[in-house]
Amino acid sequence: MSKIYPKHIAIIMDGNGRWAKKKGKPRTAGHLAGSENIRTIALYANQHGVESLTLYAFSTENWARPDEEKNYLFQLPSLFFKKYIDELKRENIRVTYIGEIERFPKQTRNVILDAVKQTSMNTGLNLCLAVNYGGRREIVCAVNEILKDPEIHEVTEDMISDHLMSETSEVDLLIRTSGEVRVSNFLLWQIAYAEMVFVNCAWPDFDPEEFEKCIDEFNHRNRRFGGLSQ
Ligand code: IPE
Ligand code: IPE
Ligand code: MG
Repeated sequence: MSKIYPKHIAIIMDGNGRWAKKKGKPRTAGHLAGSENIRTIALYANQHGVESLTLYAFSTENWARPDEEKNYLFQLPSLFFKKYIDELKRENIRVTYIGEIERFPKQTRNVILDAVKQTSMNTGLNLCLAVNYGGRREIVCAVNEILKDPEIHEVTEDMISDHLMSETSEVDLLIRTSGEVRVSNFLLWQIAYAEMVFVNCAWPDFDPEEFEKCIDEFNHRNRRFGGLSQ
């Protein structure tokens, strides 16, 4: 049987800090290497026909980090897109985002919005960056949005799904790097039936070979969705 590439892959890009520490470098060096790896993995996913790749870049809980680290993280979109926007455009990759970017510095926000705009006509991989994103927050926002209609007295699953921040809903494969085995408030609604793969390597070391191993693992899983084994 030929290999299936999941339609929607979500990755918790974890372990940048530990990667840097191991090399005797500042945590920021790990974040820089991690951002470079976004390009590698996005290009690879695009080449293999993955429809959506949602990457956890900054969580609603990451505000608890020291200012110095956060300020560095806020500069990364600018560095990244300056270097790679032309390539992303050429490769037909569409950049989108989920999360409340209003809280980010203006410059960071504008750079992300500009990348979204410049690639909006592309039809290849949907590269969705989760920035100031939290799964619980997303569900609360969806419910509040629904309640704006005074006619509605009962919320349904479909209504919530339709009001989430992401255009894509169900996640097929969730990957977390760096050995932690938790979801840290990522895509809580959308991972209801995701296959999960936790790998030990840190995000900057997560290369196409490691990625392929996760795809292979996914191909060995028997997705039952509550039904019976096929
Ligand atoms: C993930 O790497 C990147 C972000 C959360 C922004 P970490 O910074 O969490 O790296 P570790 O987990 O401390 O190694
Ligand atoms: C999750 O990683 C968030 C991102 C990768 C952006 P964290 O490193 O923040 O998660 P915890 O705190 O270890 O759960
Ligand atoms: Mg971490």
